[in-house]
Amino acid sequence: MSRPGVYLSGVERTFGADEIIVSKTDTKGRIIYANEVFLRMAGFSEAEILNKPHSIIRHPDMPRCVFKLLWDTIEAGKEIFAYVKNLSKNGDHYWVLAHVTPTFDKSGNIVSYHSNRRSPRRDAVEKAEALYKELLAIENSHSDRKVGMEAAFQAVVAKLQGAGVPYDEFVFSL
Ligand SMILES: Cc1cc2nc3c(=O)[nH]c(=O)nc-3n(C[C@H](O)[C@H](O)[C@H](O)COP(=O)(O)O)c2cc1C
Repeated sequence: MSRPGVYLSGVERTFGADEIIVSKTDTKGRIIYANEVFLRMAGFSEAEILNKPHSIIRHPDMPRCVFKLLWDTIEAGKEIFAYVKNLSKNGDHYWVLAHVTPTFDKSGNIVSYHSNRRSPRRDAVEKAEALYKELLAIENSHSDRKVGMEAAFQAVVAKLQGAGVPYDEFVFSL
């Protein structure tokens, strides 16, 4: 449920260093909770986003392979940190450093997901922006969406192997 052809204002929104954008989803990625900071930054009312897919705030500049990495990681029961460019209802955008985690029931089954997002450092945003442009170009150079995403995904994996670091550390070294 991304918003193709959506108006992009080019205006960046920022939030305070002491603020955290919080949301929770069900196992399919539908929003079941969003805090006040989330609603303010995304520009949606609670009624507008509850039970909607989280891709409602997906920005078209985000490469698909980043979300593949996110879902592969959390569905495997692990946490992930990722820089994400999000889209507000009015076409503004905002960068976050997201920490996404699975929540387990007593038997160890994943019952929901939780994301806490802080305001990222400016230099990290610049590096993420450059990397994501590269990945998006790889994705768009293939007519088959899936093939393009796999190629971009492999490019990320190669970068990580080249740097000899796991994804988390890679994210923090951006
Ligand atoms: C807890 C949680 C938080 C998420 N937060 C975001 C987010 O802030 N922005 C976003 O674009 N996708 C977020 N996603 C990923 C979306 O579910 C989705 O994979 C992504 O927007 C790509 O959309 P698409 O699969 O329709 O292309 C989140 C997923 C989970 C489980």
